[in-house]
Amino acid sequence: MMSLEQQPQQPGFPTTRLRRLRYNPAVRRLVQQTRLSPSNLILPLFVRSGENVREEISSMPGHYQLSPDLIVDEISQAVELGIGGVILFGIPAEKDATGSNALSDSGIIPQAIHVAKRAAGEFLLITDVCFCEYTDHGHCGPINKKTGRIDVDNDATLELLAEQAVVHARAGADMVAPSGMMDGMVGAIRRGLDTAGFSHVPIISYAAKYASAFYGPFRDAAESTPQEGDRCGYQMDPAAAAGQAIREIELDLAEGADIVMVKPALAYLDVIHQVSRRFPGVPLAAYNVSGEYSMVKAAARRGWLDEQAVVLESLTAIRRAGATIILTYWAKDAARWL
Ligand code: PBG
Repeated sequence: MMSLEQQPQQPGFPTTRLRRLRYNPAVRRLVQQTRLSPSNLILPLFVRSGENVREEISSMPGHYQLSPDLIVDEISQAVELGIGGVILFGIPAEKDATGSNALSDSGIIPQAIHVAKRAAGEFLLITDVCFCEYTDHGHCGPINKKTGRIDVDNDATLELLAEQAVVHARAGADMVAPSGMMDGMVGAIRRGLDTAGFSHVPIISYAAKYASAFYGPFRDAAESTPQEGDRCGYQMDPAAAAGQAIREIELDLAEGADIVMVKPALAYLDVIHQVSRRFPGVPLAAYNVSGEYSMVKAAARRGWLDEQAVVLESLTAIRRAGATIILTYWAKDAARWL
């Protein structure tokens, strides 16, 4: 792409009239550069233990905590709509200090993968690899008590993440998505997967994940709000230099990440843009997060916004900023609208 300085000089008005490219819908379509396709969208799903459980998440209308048997219906719809894949978040029946359900071959995610794979073997199943949904304290790994404040023990978490990723791969996950923002997590998971015979399983890393208030509704959905403290000691500071996002991504790539992600999407389009420019050969994903969904849903319910128009415009903006892959709670709706 040409930079602004390199654009050739154009004659001014009235020789140049940019509206000539907008007058006719066919011409508008012809000159479009940003196009959305269902195959680039990923649908997040929340799995909880039980049977025939379908509990609406009050802050995310249209999304549910679903038991594994009902996940199958969602996946069949996603297949039908041509969506790129789903990402599964597990909510175990019992949470404890270490998040042990996350390491069990009969845990909630392996259960869901088994039924999903039986129903739609070829369909892309990604799993979120993190502990905040499994620990009773709601943090993304075991707490390090030595520092005297709430602090996730980085290095102790690495082995656990590798183990969790192997549990998912053994159950049949096609791709794993570490979201805990621990230093070294991608390398630890890559080594773990390779050693266990899963060198073909790619890692999509939440590489530049900000400590964002836009995750509020997700934490209702996953019941993963930290009981004490916050995630500012591991997730990125929204006010940090965008260069820190670049460093996070460089490190994750060096550790073996196959796809990198920026999260959230809409308040971080500048970061998405810089990353896409800096790493043109690396598939880039962006997570259009829960708070971004709930805001629009709330306004649309009051008749203040046209949901479809706002969503397609937002997804187009994320795409135009440089993300190819978009994780979005609107994946099914967007696929229908497209
Ligand atoms: C788990 C995780 C979170 C999200 C994705 N993975 C929550 C968090 O970090 O608190 C947020 C997704 C969303 O808001 O839609 N670490």
